[in-house]
Amino acid sequence: MESLLSSLFSENEELYILDCMAYVMVFMAACTFVTLLFENVPYGRYASSRYGFPVNAKFAWFIQELPAILVPLCLLLWTSAAKTSLLPNQLLIAMYLCHYVQRSLIYPFLIRGGKPTPFISFALAFVFCIYNGYMQIRYLSHYAEYPADWVTHPCFITGSLLWLVGWLVNVHSDHILRNLRKPGETGYKIPTGGMFEYVSGANFFGEITEWAGFALAGHSVHSVAFSIFTTVVLASRAVAHHKWYLAKFEDYPKGRKALFPFLF
Ligand SMILES: NC(=O)c1ccc[n+]([C@@H]2O[C@H](COP(=O)([O-])OP(=O)(O)OC[C@H]3O[C@@H](n4cnc5c(N)ncnc54)[C@H](OP(=O)(O)O)[C@@H]3O)[C@@H](O)[C@H]2O)c1
Repeated sequence: MESLLSSLFSENEELYILDCMAYVMVFMAACTFVTLLFENVPYGRYASSRYGFPVNAKFAWFIQELPAILVPLCLLLWTSAAKTSLLPNQLLIAMYLCHYVQRSLIYPFLIRGGKPTPFISFALAFVFCIYNGYMQIRYLSHYAEYPADWVTHPCFITGSLLWLVGWLVNVHSDHILRNLRKPGETGYKIPTGGMFEYVSGANFFGEITEWAGFALAGHSVHSVAFSIFTTVVLASRAVAHHKWYLAKFEDYPKGRKALFPFLF
């Protein structure tokens, strides 16, 4: 794989491409933001046949997220991955992999009564995982250079803690949502407990916090681009769910915000 990459471009060219990919991701986030002002993400309770045939939820989540692990594993195993001996790089790669091992290999098989994913949403998520997996892990494994004491820098420590808290909130909130349904049920109930006491999109709040922490610890245009993209996509879901809950449940807690506790 290393010889394939080096036959395609020099190291300077590849680093330039990785930077361009990050800027393209920020541009895509801006386009997504504008699109989502007019349209809900076509999935779950908002799914529509306009976006392709339905793909089984467990299958879709497993397959679409799998490249987020497989692409990094190929890069780590089959390229020189020269920077993986450095502690900051190792820790950042571990954060990324920890999230995606849970998301791809565990989360799909726990889903209860999830609505099928329209094919276009599934295909876009699949492509995103390849794109982002390559961008994050190629940069971290081959190019990223941090000062020797970076792991004791306040940015790295704060970012890592944010990542951890965000990940725990995300996993816990998804657990709460899952347990709203008994096996075989497919309807919706008002989530309670954990961060759902404060916001309708507790799982999204957790994931946004997680990748913001990763960006702070990673201090790169690549990690910041991912954090911005995630924030745009998940904030729109949180706002859509919040409006939907308020319209559907008369007794929905009035003080609960959409995404950020006490604020928004
Ligand atoms: N990094 C990214 O860009 C990104 C993008 C997308 C998702 N994600 C993450 O992936 C995870 C799932 O995302 P999602 O958008 O599918 O979350 P979601 O809309 O909250 O749904 C999660 C699961 O819970 C069920 N559910 C939601 N609300 C419910 C309620 N009130 N009562 C009963 N069941 C309920 C859903 O069922 P239905 O399918 O029947 O609605 C689905 O199976 C989240 O942790 C999210 O942060 C990350």
